[in-house]
Amino acid sequence: MSKRRVVLAYSGGLDTSVAVKWLTLERGYDVVALSVDVGQGEDLEAARARALDSGAIAAEVVDAKDEFANDYLVPAIKMNALYENKYPLVSSLSRPLISKHLVEAASRYQADAVAHGCTGKGNDQVRFEVSIRALNPSLEVEAPVREWGFTRDDTIEYARSHGVKVSATKKSPYSIDQNIFGRAIECGEMEDPWAAPPKDVYEMTQVSETVPKEVSVTFDKGVPVRLDGVSMSVFEIVEKLNKLVGSYGFGRIDMVENRRVGIKSREVYESPAGLALIMAHCELEDITLERELAHEKLRLSSKWAEAVYDGLWFSPLKEALDAFGEYSQRFVTGEVRLGLELNRCFVAGRRAEKALYDFELATYDSRDAFQHKDSEGFVRIFGLGIETWAKRQLGHK
Ligand code: ARG
Repeated sequence: MSKRRVVLAYSGGLDTSVAVKWLTLERGYDVVALSVDVGQGEDLEAARARALDSGAIAAEVVDAKDEFANDYLVPAIKMNALYENKYPLVSSLSRPLISKHLVEAASRYQADAVAHGCTGKGNDQVRFEVSIRALNPSLEVEAPVREWGFTRDDTIEYARSHGVKVSATKKSPYSIDQNIFGRAIECGEMEDPWAAPPKDVYEMTQVSETVPKEVSVTFDKGVPVRLDGVSMSVFEIVEKLNKLVGSYGFGRIDMVENRRVGIKSREVYESPAGLALIMAHCELEDITLERELAHEKLRLSSKWAEAVYDGLWFSPLKEALDAFGEYSQRFVTGEVRLGLELNRCFVAGRRAEKALYDFELATYDSRDAFQHKDSEGFVRIFGLGIETWAKRQLGHK
């Protein structure tokens, strides 16, 4: 009988390199390693070579940078998605995409199973496994890191004794996940929520610019399409804004969040372009969305963020919320000016051809076209219930 086959989501790090060997030796699989490029800025060709070196029978790199930007970041921007009002879902957005590519590769390689390198304490295992089950319920899922029960030293020892080459860099005390939308940094000193994050944990937001500057972002139906008037892909816009906005030190988040698995955890993030784009997009919505739609969208946006955080990317709820999001963006076309200063990114101006902002209604000068006398009856009726309450129940005369 031929050996069973598994496609492993391979990052090139210690855990997934040991997982290649472990799935081969302890579980009897032929391992196919799949690395998905979501703009993490790592050398994935080197990772591919390392996978083969660790015993994979095949190793592939999938370039999913534009797919990630267009199909995953764009819906998040349209929904202004911030989990618990703060976190732009960096890791939460890449997991369903990686899962999709795992499932596709499993079918190409006629694999019996797919595998990920997540621990049992995090959200990422949930996102991978729920996505995989939505896309192909017949696949088995292996989670070696959750199963083997190794400490970090055990893992290093397993690597050494089985000839798995570990990239000989000094071992970082942090667990880092990154993609074009940002970086998530956990562990080390940050496990004490009272302790400030060490300065060296930041990469995308190290200050190198201090001279104030402006940048303009143009949206077409909610999709960022131009930076300073120049058309480019969403991926390029995110990439360029990360550099620019990050160079002013803007884009850091330090929070204690509620994981899906019941743990409160201290998380430090950098997402310069993510936060700047959501800020600019919100601002454009402020002048283009009718009030009731804007208010309902605010409510549904936290629902969207929660669903995606929880691993429900491929779910009927998230699909329905996306339909709402998509429809809401019909007139979200226009331009926002962002100002940049040391550690700051702020909105300096906004305009849209179909803006609902009406100068003649808003102005206090002589061009005022608002019907002032209409307000009298409106306000009296609006306050009627309150007046009745004050008289009857509070006894005011
Ligand atoms: N807490 C964040 C989330 O759940 C970040 C997870 C980062 N993953 C990692 N392996 N360090 O989305």
